Amino acid sequence: MAAATPTPGDPDFVLDLMCPDYHRDPYPTLAAMREHAPDYVVPGIGALFLSRHADIVEVLADEARFSGDRTRWEHYVPPPPEHADHPVVRLTGANILAAEGAQHTRLRKLASAALTRRAVKNLDPLMHALADELIDRFIERGTCDFAKEFGEVLPVTIVSRLLGIDKDSDRERRFKSLADAAVVAFNPLVSEDDKLRSLHSMTQHLEEVRALMEEKRKNPGNDLMTDMVEAEDDAARGFSELEITSTLQAIIVAGSETTANSLSFGLVELLRHPDQLARFRDDPSVRASAVDEIVRYQHPGLFIPRYAKVDAEVAGVKVHPGQMILCAVPSAQRDSAVIDDPDRFDITRKSHDLSAFGVGRHFCIGAQLARLELEVALGRVVERLDDLRLDIDFDAIPFRRNPAVRGPASVPIRFTPGRRLAVAADGEEALR
Ligand code: HEM
Repeated sequence: MAAATPTPGDPDFVLDLMCPDYHRDPYPTLAAMREHAPDYVVPGIGALFLSRHADIVEVLADEARFSGDRTRWEHYVPPPPEHADHPVVRLTGANILAAEGAQHTRLRKLASAALTRRAVKNLDPLMHALADELIDRFIERGTCDFAKEFGEVLPVTIVSRLLGIDKDSDRERRFKSLADAAVVAFNPLVSEDDKLRSLHSMTQHLEEVRALMEEKRKNPGNDLMTDMVEAEDDAARGFSELEITSTLQAIIVAGSETTANSLSFGLVELLRHPDQLARFRDDPSVRASAVDEIVRYQHPGLFIPRYAKVDAEVAGVKVHPGQMILCAVPSAQRDSAVIDDPDRFDITRKSHDLSAFGVGRHFCIGAQLARLELEVALGRVVERLDDLRLDIDFDAIPFRRNPAVRGPASVPIRFTPGRRLAVAADGEEALR
């Protein structure tokens, strides 16, 4: 008789974060870890894997003992000295996610200039228009791959439009390639070869960003790049070009794939729960809470890394300086210690914490934007696509092979073919 597969708590259990089954549904494993192995240490890299809500919040909130700066990792390999001046390496040095203390406060101000000053104000019309634009590209077909044709395109297009990059321009296409490369380059676990390829392509595309900055300096517009460049010129703050490009990178890396995955997860879960879909479609007042429930129920991340700065104790385990701690936020979001009936998908659920978007100093600066994106975009999708259904068994949906984020790589859907809104017969824009 074959030996039973070891489960969390068994001495032979090994957590494989790249296992396709884990990506499809990590929740049974995470539930078992919360119960039997809340202090699991990943063999080889010696990282402490935290699965309980209380432990995760404790670590994320405590910047005196734990940092997001990867250079503090005991296994960190610095770039060779001859590459220290490489534009992308310098960029990483000014990364908001890794920054601590006063440097972080400063970068956070810049990111706020980009994301909160006017971005999230009056964004509804832009979101609506973009969602409709994307839906128009496939609505007459009666079928599409939602992950590829909508989820992956919308978040980066929104950032690109917010920056004042022209619609359908070569620059917009190059900006999207920059976003793709950045997501790979800053992923801690991809192979060095892939990283180098992405870094190379990023170096080329960064020139593009610099050109855009230059243009906005000369011809200021009503857009975020202008806001950031003006912040740069403001003597009181004096943000450098490096800080601006690096913050832009962080916005792209932290905001693209997470939101893309949440769009796909959102649609998939609504389709798997027809009563909730009907409620979401017919009652826009539930959409805001629905979006929080989507991000809670199917979190698009796998973990947030932290590095111990001092000797400390977490989950009853002693950790040493430089030790990596993996905070499994998706697990925190299903912890029955803080959430009632956590495995039930309920879009009217009101009371849950917001640690899905982080805790403390590094709390997601794009949370408001992401929520609005999901609310408006999924709203338009269910309003415009009739008789919407998955065109694949849920169990056959392929998942991305990414060690940091989690989400469907492809979501084929089917619906009754409909009519486009945007382009009239003479090619004129007929939107709104
Ligand atoms: C569903 C979508 C999203 C989720 C689940 C999410 C989640 C998170 C989490 C958990 C953190 C904390 C990371 C840490 O503590 O190390 C974070 C930080 C961040 N997020 Fe998001 N995010 C989302 C969308 C976005 C969007 C749309 C943007 C920007 C357009 C964005 C920009 C950022 C930035 C810049 C940070 C770093 C903040 C800092 O270090 O101070 N995120 N996000």
